[in-house]
Parts: sequence; C-alpha cells; structure tokens
Amino acid sequence: MKYNIRKKFEKYDIKIIKRGLKRTSEIFNLKRKILIVTDENIPERYIKEVADQTKESLVYKIEPGEKSKSIEVYKDIMNFMIENDFTRSDAVVAIGGGVVGDLSGFVASTYMRGIDFYNIPTSLLAQVDSSIGGKTAIDFHGIKNIIGSFYQPKGVLIDVSVLKTLPEREINNGIAEIIKIAATQSKDLFSLLENEERTKRTIMPIILEAVKLKKIIAEQDEKESGLRRVLNFGHTIGHAIEESCEGKLLHGECVALGMLYFSSKEAREKIINLLKKYDLPCSYEINKEKILELIAHDKKKYGERINVIYVEEIGSYIEKSLTINEIREIIEKGN
Ligand SMILES: NC(=O)c1ccc[n+]([C@@H]2O[C@H](COP(=O)([O-])OP(=O)(O)OC[C@H]3O[C@@H](n4cnc5c(N)ncnc54)[C@H](O)[C@@H]3O)[C@@H](O)[C@H]2O)c1
Repeated sequence: MKYNIRKKFEKYDIKIIKRGLKRTSEIFNLKRKILIVTDENIPERYIKEVADQTKESLVYKIEPGEKSKSIEVYKDIMNFMIENDFTRSDAVVAIGGGVVGDLSGFVASTYMRGIDFYNIPTSLLAQVDSSIGGKTAIDFHGIKNIIGSFYQPKGVLIDVSVLKTLPEREINNGIAEIIKIAATQSKDLFSLLENEERTKRTIMPIILEAVKLKKIIAEQDEKESGLRRVLNFGHTIGHAIEESCEGKLLHGECVALGMLYFSSKEAREKIINLLKKYDLPCSYEINKEKILELIAHDKKKYGERINVIYVEEIGSYIEKSLTINEIREIIEKGN
C-alpha cells in the first residue's frame, strides 16, 4: 500500500518525509549560523547530513535522558551561544527526542528574547507528540516542565527513516502516546493500532494519523486553556509516577499506567490489550503517598479541584473535576 507521506500544515510546516534529512535545507532556512542541539545517542550521520546543508553550524551535544532537561544544561547552552556570538538572526535546530526538543525549544524561546527554532524529532514520541504544539520546558526543583514557554517552531521535519536506529523500548514508549491520542479522539486510530503487525518499525499510517490529530488539537488551543487538556489523558498520575520512579520508567510508560486509572472497565480492557501488545507496563508498584503529594502540587497550579480526562468509551472523553480526596480514593483502589 502507498501512503502520501508529504503533508503541509497551515500555521507552520510539519513535513513528514522518508529519508527527509537530506532535504532539510529545502524546508528550513539554513543559510545562516545554526546551533544544532542533539544528544550523544543520535547517530553522527544524522547530524552531519543536516550540518552539511547549513551556511555555518556549531553542534552542542547533551547527555541523553531527562536529567539534561535541567537549568544547568540550559545555562551551559546559553553560555555556549554567547561565547560563540549567536545573534537574533541565527537559529537553533533540535535533532533528537523530546528531551532535546523541549530543552532547545526553551533555549531558542529565551535567547535574546527568542530566535528561530526548527525541530527534527528522532524518537517516535517526539515525532507524534512533543515536537508538535510549541510546548518547551525544563524540569526544576524535582518538578517536570515547571519552567517553560509556549513557543512555536518555524518548522518541523519528521523523517521516519531515523526510527530504524531507535531502540525497541523507545518505539513502544512512543506508541503509548499514540494510544493516548487514539483512546480519547479516534476509534479508527485505535483500530489501526490493534490491527498493525507488531514487526514493522515505520508505522507510517499510524504516525500520519497521530500527527494530524495532535496538530488539530494544538492549533485550536495553543496555550492549553481548554480543548488541549485532552492530551493530558494519563498524565495526572503518569507525571507523578515519572517524578517518583527514579528513572526506572520512560515517559510514555508512565502515561500508559496513568491512563488505566481514568478509564471505564470496558475502555480499560481494550487499552490493556494494546499495552500488552506493545510491551508496555499495565501495573507498577507505586508509593501512593508520594504520588498524592506530587499531584497535590498540581492542585496548587489549578486551584482546589484537579481536572482529569476520563475515557468512558474508546474514541471519546469527558473532563472530570476531582478533589484530591477523590483522587486519593482512585489511587487507593489501584489501576
Ligand atoms: N513538549 C511536549 O508537548 C511534550 C509532549 C510529550 C512529552 N514531552 C517530553 O518529551 C520527553 C521524552 O521524550 P523522548 O521519549 O523522545 O525521550 P528522549 O529525548 O530521552 O529520547 C529517548 C532516547 O532515544 C534516543 N534516541 C532518540 N532518537 C533516536 C534515534 N533515531 N536513534 C537512536 N536513539 C535515539 C535518545 O538519545 C534517548 O536516549 C520528556 O521530557 C517529556 O516530558 C514533551
């Protein structure tokens, strides 16, 4: 079967192109000084392919993993840019997963009050989720994404060929975010996931559909004042698990667990079947008190009640406003 893999979206370009790295300069304006931010796991050939198309580029590599989404790494990159005389007409290009994207987007949004930012997401999670919508952030004080900004990239290039080097667990991690999108918004995408052969790595129709849905939602509610909250399905408890699990679980794995607390019996069974298919966790020993403490911090952000996304039936959702005590009961009941 053939799929149309080139898609142009309105506000800024999101291009989905197989072996697209070699065409980066057709999509991004690279005729200037470029800071490429990447991490040590990203194959050198991806970086070279992009760097070779710039007028001038400098590469800044971070250590892989969430710990690099820190104020210290942010400061180091800022120092590097100042020492290398980056100006407002230069640009930042992220080549990496969600960590590289969130961090370098935040760098771009604050350096000299904002310089152009382009994103080349290389993990499945970043391709279908974090690179779209303009949320940038670093973690601070043990709290995920507590410092950040909404800052739209000038362009996003999704080259599915780079998924060939992504470890299997990371592929599944990205699938968890696709399950989240499907469970709340699209029965069809959910069926695609159920029917997909588990062996294929570049699951093009699934990626296309997930990107489209994420883009529609993010564009309608750029600053998460309403509709976009649907993307938080699984995140209320998921984020708290992630903050308390000492790096044992990946972001998508935590979201996978988080979804199970806020689904009807019927929806939950279907989600569990998919989680099993994609080797994602369906249970995890959590420290309930710690989790509640972390969720209570969210309460400070939103007021007395916490809004959660609940899936009664696959492909749709409702928003519930719960007290911390109601969340306590849900956590104590277990997922
Ligand atoms: N901004 C948003 O809207 C948003 C949405 C969801 C998640 N996030 C954030 O995204 C982050 C998680 O992103 P992630 O799962 O991509 O993690 P990640 O950036 O740590 O990448 C996962 C791992 O895969 C490696 N990797 C990436 N691409 C590769 C490739 N093509 N070949 C080989 N190795 C590769 C990375 O080096 C890393 O070790 C979290 O910090 C989360 O908070 C942000």
